[in-house]
Amino acid sequence: MGSERITLLSSREIDKMRKAGQLAAELLDHLAPMVKPGVSTLEINDEAERWTQAKRAKSAPLGYGPKNNPFPKSICTSVNEVICHGIPNAQQILQDGDIINIDVTPILDGYHGDTSRTFLVGTPSPEAKKLVEVTEECLRRGIAAVKPGGKIGDIGAAIQEYAESHGYSVVRDFVGHGVSHIFHTAPQIPHYGTKGKGKRIKPGMVFTIEPMINQGTWEAVMLDDGWTAITADGKLSAQFEHTIAVTKDGVEILTLRD
Ligand code: MF3
Ligand code: CO
Ligand code: CO
Repeated sequence: MGSERITLLSSREIDKMRKAGQLAAELLDHLAPMVKPGVSTLEINDEAERWTQAKRAKSAPLGYGPKNNPFPKSICTSVNEVICHGIPNAQQILQDGDIINIDVTPILDGYHGDTSRTFLVGTPSPEAKKLVEVTEECLRRGIAAVKPGGKIGDIGAAIQEYAESHGYSVVRDFVGHGVSHIFHTAPQIPHYGTKGKGKRIKPGMVFTIEPMINQGTWEAVMLDDGWTAITADGKLSAQFEHTIAVTKDGVEILTLRD
């Protein structure tokens, strides 16, 4: 992945990414009111799949990954200590005080819109709320660090500096990624790093920034299902994600609804 060439998208392709991105943002807005104590993560998944089909789009996660263990559902639902890639499940009922990341990636006209947010279920602890707020600000700062002519390392440096200043840690095992007609491609976007390091950021690059920020250690453990990543110490993890396009003079957030 790291050695692959980075494709610059044409304005026609970025237009398709914009439409897919808008759909992805709309899907999260549609699911948001379902996030309540008593709802199962499978119910959220099934509504996402139904809505996506009604929009003549496809759910990229469904069947994604290795042939012997493809991702079995349409969205990722990552609750509390789950860092990412949680699998929706009928037995998992949201409880008051939980936090849940919902990560959606509809494919529209062949192009992927990849975005996620962490939602509060009922009234979480002040500590949980703070983690979620800081993580959203990490994404905002990561995006603000994207400048044509700058370096990929600028993004992770901005995120890491802010997260660690609050006593949190940045997940290493999962990174942002180039996205287009391909779900995951070059470049990799680490959410930690050093300003001025890494490849040069150029207009036409399209990639995600999706910091996963932990209360405790950054270390992750993979569950037996081969997908669900949890924090090694069982403490909370939060995540926000946008798909962005680098423009001549800055950045366009493709998964922000206009
Ligand atoms: N949407 C996730 C990302 O941000 C990827 C999910 S892949 C899946 O990159 F197979 F787990 F769904
Ligand atoms: Co995603
Ligand atoms: Co992504």
